[in-house]
Amino acid sequence: MSIVYLNGEYIPKDQAFISVDDRGFLFGDGIYEVTAIYRGKMFRWERHLARMQRGLGALRIDFDPVSLEEVHNRLIQENDLGSAPISYVYTEITRGVAKRTHKFPTEPHTPTVYLFAGQYNRPSRDVWEKGFTSVTVHDVRWARRDIKTIQLLANVLGAQAGADHGVDEIIFTYEGMAIEGSHNNLFMVFGDTIVTHPLSNQVLPGITREVVFDLAEKTGHEIQERPVTVADMYKADEIFHSGTLSEVKPCVEVDGKMIGDGKVGPVSRALFDAFLAETGSGA
Ligand code: PDD
Repeated sequence: MSIVYLNGEYIPKDQAFISVDDRGFLFGDGIYEVTAIYRGKMFRWERHLARMQRGLGALRIDFDPVSLEEVHNRLIQENDLGSAPISYVYTEITRGVAKRTHKFPTEPHTPTVYLFAGQYNRPSRDVWEKGFTSVTVHDVRWARRDIKTIQLLANVLGAQAGADHGVDEIIFTYEGMAIEGSHNNLFMVFGDTIVTHPLSNQVLPGITREVVFDLAEKTGHEIQERPVTVADMYKADEIFHSGTLSEVKPCVEVDGKMIGDGKVGPVSRALFDAFLAETGSGA
């Protein structure tokens, strides 16, 4: 039985319960985060922390997640994940328990803080080398997609639309642009240039997206942040997704159309290899 953290306690998962009055349950009033841990070492914790602090600030939830670094380390230890090649910690912070009212509760309330850890099994290199498939889905998310809130219904429906089509991933399209995946960012490669949607309220500022920027500098590729139309996306030489646990995930087919020559391309491969080196998680 895995050990989870709930409101200050480390307990077996089957003993972790929250109130039906929790505003996360009633309103989706909270944020979440997913952090990757490579052989017991947290990857880019400071960036995940900063994004949580920004999100909590935007929602005016009074909690400083700085203390959660220690909780991450303890959960890794409690769940024997210290030597696992890749593990992850899921964090959720809601406004807490209060009588149901849309505006913020005036009665005293404390944020609910829940974390659990698990192991991640990366697809084998053979599977990765075959590439992944995707379909476009019209993006109906709310207008603050830059905050990592727990309101993921549009992402859930989008991902399910992909599953219904028998593909691995989806690409959200908004106002004619290919902007993001259901749980990862999107990059398109044209020649030697890598293009991704600019940061705005329309997409999540992914930590792995930042990592790709760093890696591109090392592999000598230029990155441009600009919107790409769906029509142009189909003409990309390569497409890949980036995300915690998606890592660098190549996409070789969108909406049944082959991308480039339908094979994983050299830029995606160079970035993935650089990612493996950066995380010390290569074979
Ligand atoms: N998803 N875009 C969306 C909509 C996301 O949900 C995520 C992360 C990303 C990539 O962000 P990062 O590189 O910081 O993981 C982009 C997490 C992993 C999830 O929902 O499980």
